[in-house]
Amino acid sequence: MDAPTGDRSSSDEPPFDDPIEPPTAFVETANVSDRSIYERFDRSWPACWGEAAALLEWEAPYETVLDDTDAPLYRWFSDGELNASYNCLDRHLEERKNQVAITWIGKRDERQSYTYLDLHREVNAAAAALRELGVEADDVVTLYLPMIPQLPIMMLACARIGAPHNVVFAGLSAEALAQRMGAAESEVLVTCDGYYRREDAFNQKSKADNARIRLDYDLSAMVVVDRLGPELAVHLGNNEYDYDELVTAHRGETVEPVARNATDLLFVMYTSGTTGEPKGVEHATGGYLAHVAWTTQAVLDVKPQDTYWCAADIGWITGHSYGVYGPLALGTTSIVYEGTPDYPDRNRIWELIERNAVNVFYTAPTAIRSFMKWGAEFPERHDRSSLRLLGTVGEAITPRAWRWYREHVGDGETPIVDTWWQTETGAILLATLPGLSKMKPGAAGPPLPGIDIAVVDETGEPIAPGETGYLTVTKPWPGMLRGLRGGTDRYIREYWRETDNGWAYQTGDGATIDEDGYVTILGRVDDVINVDAHRLTTTELEAAIVEVPGVTEAAVVGDGAGLIAFVTVRHDTGEDEKLREAIRARLREAIGAVAVPDRIVFTPELPKTRSGKIMRRLLEDIACGNEFGDISALRNPEVVGEISSTIGNT
Ligand code: PRX
Repeated sequence: MDAPTGDRSSSDEPPFDDPIEPPTAFVETANVSDRSIYERFDRSWPACWGEAAALLEWEAPYETVLDDTDAPLYRWFSDGELNASYNCLDRHLEERKNQVAITWIGKRDERQSYTYLDLHREVNAAAAALRELGVEADDVVTLYLPMIPQLPIMMLACARIGAPHNVVFAGLSAEALAQRMGAAESEVLVTCDGYYRREDAFNQKSKADNARIRLDYDLSAMVVVDRLGPELAVHLGNNEYDYDELVTAHRGETVEPVARNATDLLFVMYTSGTTGEPKGVEHATGGYLAHVAWTTQAVLDVKPQDTYWCAADIGWITGHSYGVYGPLALGTTSIVYEGTPDYPDRNRIWELIERNAVNVFYTAPTAIRSFMKWGAEFPERHDRSSLRLLGTVGEAITPRAWRWYREHVGDGETPIVDTWWQTETGAILLATLPGLSKMKPGAAGPPLPGIDIAVVDETGEPIAPGETGYLTVTKPWPGMLRGLRGGTDRYIREYWRETDNGWAYQTGDGATIDEDGYVTILGRVDDVINVDAHRLTTTELEAAIVEVPGVTEAAVVGDGAGLIAFVTVRHDTGEDEKLREAIRARLREAIGAVAVPDRIVFTPELPKTRSGKIMRRLLEDIACGNEFGDISALRNPEVVGEISSTIGNT
C-alpha cells in the first residue's frame, strides 16, 4: 500500500473559508434538525439503528439489532423478515397509488411516468414472468440494461421473489459481462436489443450473445427488451424471450412478496478490487434497505412529495441505493434519465430540473467539472428555484468546484451535502446533516450519527488532526456488505483488521481529519482508480494492455479527469497510432469504453524502484504536472525526464 499523500487535485486551491451555516429556511423544513441525534445514537448504539429499521415495514419483527457473535461477519436485524419490493411499492399504495414513482426521461422528448400503482403492476407481471422462466428464491438474475424503466422494474421483480439481482453496467464489454455472470453462477440474463447514446444506437444484444458464448455453461433464459424498435431487429435464439411478450402475458397477476430474512442476499454487485478479479460485493436485505432509506431521508432530506433526481447510472451502486431503493422506500418521485448531460445541448440538465421542478439533485464531481467548463450561463438560463438541496458523491470535490456548484446551481443559498461512501458500505457513512451541520467545502464531513471512524497510521494508531492517514470504520453499520461472493477468507483479509479495540474496516482511502471531526478524503491508497465515478483497478487495465502483441509493460494512472497509460513495446514494434488503436480496442473488449485511456504514452522504460516495483505515484505526479521529490532511489531515474518531456508533447 502506498502512503496517502495530499489531495493533488486541490493543491492549487485556497483553503476553505469559514464553515458555512445551513440556511434558516432549509433548517425549518429539514427532516433532521435536532442536534441531539448524535448523542442519542452514541448513547444507544447499536439499538439506535432501530430508528432506520423503523422506516421499513417488517413481515416479522426483529429482536436482535446486531449479531456480532461471529465478528467481523456482522449480521444486522438477523431474526427479522421483510421484502424489499413490498417496502418500495405495496405499502405505498394506500396513501399514494396515483403519485408518480418513476419519471423516465429518454432521448429527446421521450418521457414515461409510472405511478406507484403502475410500477406495482409492472413489477408483479415481471416477477410472474421470472417465475415462469423457473427463477426461484436465491437464483441470481443478471440485468444488463441501460437506464430504461425495465431496469428498476426487474430489480424490484427479483427482490419480490427473493432472487438476488446482479446488475452489470450496460457499457461494460461482453467479456466483463461473462466474467461477472460466471462468477455469480447466474443462469438468467435480462438485456435489450440496444440503446441510445446521443443520436447513435448501440447494439447490446450482440454483446450479450458474445458473453453467452464465453460462459462454460448455458443460460436457462435470456430476456430481451425491445428498446430500439425497428431501428434494430434482433434475432431471438434458443431460450430467448421478448420482454414485452413475456411480461404482457402476466399483466394483472399478483405475486406475493416473498418474506426474506434480513440477512438474505438482496443483490450482488461486482466492483473492481485490488487484484484483476472483480469482487462480488453482497448486500443483505434488511440492513442495506434500512440504512439506505434512513440516509435518503436524513442526508438527502428527501420527502415523499419531492421530485428527486440521482443522476448516477443504476448500473453502479449509487444508482442502486439512491436512484432506486432509497427514494422508492420513502415513497417519493425519482427521475431516471437515459441521456447524457450535453445532448441535445448543454442546457439539458437544467431544462429537466426546471421542467420537472426537481427538489433534490445528486450527482458526481466529474459532472460538476464539466458543467463548470461549459459555463454558468447554461444553468443560469433556467429556473432552478425548486432546488432545495444539492449532493455530490464518488470522488473528492475541490473547494472551487463546490463553490461553483453552490453559486451557479444553488444560487448561493442551497446547501450541499458531500457524501462519502463505497460500493461496499452500501450507503452514506460520512456527510454533513444538511439541517444541522456547518458545511466545509472540500471536506466530506463528519461521520453520520451511529458511525464510528478513525484515521490511522500504518500501525493503526489514530493520527493527529491535519495529518494524513488511512480511513477506517471502527464499528459495523447496517448497510455494510455481508461478504464477498464465494470468499469469506478474502473478505476478511481484504477489509478487516483486528485491533485492541475490536475489528476495524479498511476503506482503502487516505484521509485527514480536522479538529471538528470533519474528514477530507485524499483518494485511494491502493491501485484502484476512480474515473468518471467508475472504479477501475490498474491491474485489470494493465493486464488487458499487455495482451496486445508487441506490448511489454504498461502502467495506468489517473490524472484527476481521466486515464493515462504508459506503455513500453518490443524493439521491433512501432510506437504508432495503429498500436494505440489496438490498445484502445483491447480495453474496449476486455472491460468497456470506460476503460479507454485519454492518452497513451509510449516510453522506453517505466520508472521502477530497485526492487522492480513500478512507481505509479511518480507517474501520476508527472501526469498531473505536480512537483515530484527525490528520484535518485529509482533504478532508472533518467527515464523520468524522458517521460516528462514526452507527456508535454502529447
Ligand atoms: O475513494 C472513495 C471515492 O469512491 C470510492 C468508492 O467507489 P465506489 O465503490 O465506486 O462507490 C462510489 C459511489 C459511492 C471511495 O473509496 N469516493 C466516494 N465518495 C467520495 C469519494 N471520495 C471523496 N469524496 C466523496 N464524497
